[in-house]
Amino acid sequence: MGNLSAKSCIVLHDSCTTALDRDDFASKVDLSFLDPPFNQDKAYNAWNDNLPPEKYWDWMREICTKVYKSTSDGGAIYFMQREKNTEFVLRCLRDAGWTFQNLIIWKKKTSAVPGTKRFGKHYQIIAFATKGKTPRVFHRLRIDPPLPADYKHARENGMFVTDVWDDIRELTSGYFAGDEALRDTEGNRLHKQQAPIQLLLRIILSSTNPGDVVLDPFAGSGTTLVVAEQLDRKSIGIELDSHNVALIQDRFAELRKSDDVSRFFTDYACTPNLETIWGEHERHKEFASPDEIAAKQMAFLEPNQSNLST
Ligand SMILES: C[S@@+](CC[C@H](N)C(=O)[O-])C[C@H]1O[C@@H](n2cnc3c(N)ncnc32)[C@H](O)[C@@H]1O
Repeated sequence: MGNLSAKSCIVLHDSCTTALDRDDFASKVDLSFLDPPFNQDKAYNAWNDNLPPEKYWDWMREICTKVYKSTSDGGAIYFMQREKNTEFVLRCLRDAGWTFQNLIIWKKKTSAVPGTKRFGKHYQIIAFATKGKTPRVFHRLRIDPPLPADYKHARENGMFVTDVWDDIRELTSGYFAGDEALRDTEGNRLHKQQAPIQLLLRIILSSTNPGDVVLDPFAGSGTTLVVAEQLDRKSIGIELDSHNVALIQDRFAELRKSDDVSRFFTDYACTPNLETIWGEHERHKEFASPDEIAAKQMAFLEPNQSNLST
């Protein structure tokens, strides 16, 4: 695939704990996606993923508070976590000032993780909340998944997306992760927690308009940023690990076919005004020069830019 212009994306190599204190973020962000380390002793290069639980949840509350301050009125947060942590996630969001909207169940396509003392686990949660009661943007997307076998009548115009998302395939570890997973030349995964582009596509389309600002404080391999860029949204990614920052830069330098979101346009074809919501979808542009990017970033972060919160 061609180059993906990175003119509307900033990647900060930093800890979000400190980076989010920047005054120039205040009330500028329209949507945040939080996919933090889950504190389950995973091997991260730059992060201890085995904090005492109280410390971990104090940290999550701090991040939710800082993201709240950075968010425009009515702006949204989507906080992804393991289902067993639902009560902590909802408490963190509430303590930070967010208004609960939905608890999204992201049902996995692969088989459930078996349990001997309880039911097997088959989903992850994504808590959706807003700054204030009324979302500043909420597009009611329509999809048309295959009809269940016992349905007698075909749908005339698809159906609204609900709070159960069972049509987005996770990038499992190993073989079934497919082409979308970033890999080295030997086939090893470059970021084991890489989220699928379809997940971010749905979130960004639902809660933003073209030109809005999307933040990912735990940017990882840059999935949020790559999707935001293709939908004409501005984006800010913060990532602690220098390997991942390099990974994001590489991912932007060469848009892979498997990162191209345009193939999912037809999945949402029943959505009114889809063209407008999707954005102009400019791709295959020349990669911006470092000077162009620096100039754009200065303008991007200037306080009180009217186009950031309209
Ligand atoms: C679960 S992964 C995110 C994966 C991402 N959604 C993707 O699609 O690639 C969490 C990321 O947070 C990063 N991280 C951990 N602590 C951080 C911090 N304090 N500030 C910024 N990033 C951090 C880790 O290096 C890791 O890449």
